Amino acid sequence: MKIQKPVYYGDYLHLPKILNAQDTESAKYGPEAHDETLFIIIHQTYELWFKQIIHEICSVREIMKHSFIPSTDLSTINARLERVGKIQQILIDQIKIMETMTSLDFMEFRDYLVPASGFQSLQFRLIEATLGIKAAHRMEIEKQFFNSRLKPEDRAQLEKAEEEDSIFELLDSWLSRMPFSEFGDFDFWGEYSEAVETMLNQDEQIIASNPSLNDTVRTMELRNLETTRNTFKTLLDANLYSKNLQEGKVRLSQKATLSCVFIYLYRDYPALQMPFKILNSLVEIDENFTTWRYRHAIMVQRILGTKIGTGGSAGHEYLKATTERNRAFIDLFNMATFLIPKHSIPKLPELIKDQLDIVYDSLRS
Ligand code: HEM
Repeated sequence: MKIQKPVYYGDYLHLPKILNAQDTESAKYGPEAHDETLFIIIHQTYELWFKQIIHEICSVREIMKHSFIPSTDLSTINARLERVGKIQQILIDQIKIMETMTSLDFMEFRDYLVPASGFQSLQFRLIEATLGIKAAHRMEIEKQFFNSRLKPEDRAQLEKAEEEDSIFELLDSWLSRMPFSEFGDFDFWGEYSEAVETMLNQDEQIIASNPSLNDTVRTMELRNLETTRNTFKTLLDANLYSKNLQEGKVRLSQKATLSCVFIYLYRDYPALQMPFKILNSLVEIDENFTTWRYRHAIMVQRILGTKIGTGGSAGHEYLKATTERNRAFIDLFNMATFLIPKHSIPKLPELIKDQLDIVYDSLRS
């Protein structure tokens, strides 16, 4: 048996390396700018947390690559995704510390940093790629930045990561494998469509008979309702759906979307509780990411105004655009469109209910 060596706190954590890794650029050219230490430490902290996030989501991706994911693994996936969500909360909160540095403080050392930029954070890009935001989804200006601003070895690593299936893609195939589109004799989607039709007809009645609406507003509301009706139609029509896919209006396949709607409607059944939690955790991660992007963009406006970034982008305007656009799981947010009131959700036949429930034969009366 190997004899265990005593471990020393500072050595175990490599503190000499980490605590001696804050070399300010300003000190190389003149008096050291006081706030540059904060600037470095906060970026290093982010990168450490990014490393942990990558550790979690890559392990999730490995589990999701299996053609069958047992329920115990689903619970592991969810626990790790929830952890990512908690780390992101800290990342969002840290922006407040960054904001204690004023615009003038930043100008003391900003020019020494050109052309370095958070834009070149490889780990940030790896997180995006692992979740499902890849080159194909980026704006033209972003693609150009990638080609000109990343070191060749970083670009190569990112391209390699983008070749792997992302969590979004694996989620799509996991949902598509679920048997919620066919139920033998029970025409679930037919019953669902009837419930939708009833709901929309009621909405139409309410708009048509509402005395407080003038003709212009009534026509506008009826037109909006027609759009909703068409959205529902698209969900169940393979041709309309694939047109939406081609036009980039949706990214999730029709089969996966149908499974998703089913999970959202019947999430209280034990067999669907964990899948629902996983979808919810992914929504949470996407929302936290968007919140971080938005808070970062606002902070940048406060510190830079309309100046361009050290990486050469339009600064705040560029960041606002990526906040709107770069959403890996936007389809899961839009799932709410297809939900109907609880009382009108189709009742499932006993056989299907039993499959979704945990039924112990010995407890049956
Ligand atoms: C004084 C504080 C900061 C300023 C003024 C600032 C400014 C900017 C600007 C202007 C950009 C756009 C690219 C460019 O032209 O450079 C950018 C991108 C970025 N920054 Fe910051 N930043 C600050 C702090 C941070 C911190 C603490 C992080 C944490 C890692 C960070 C991470 C990023 C990332 C990941 C991007 C790329 C975002 C994307 O392309 O969607 N920034 N930053």
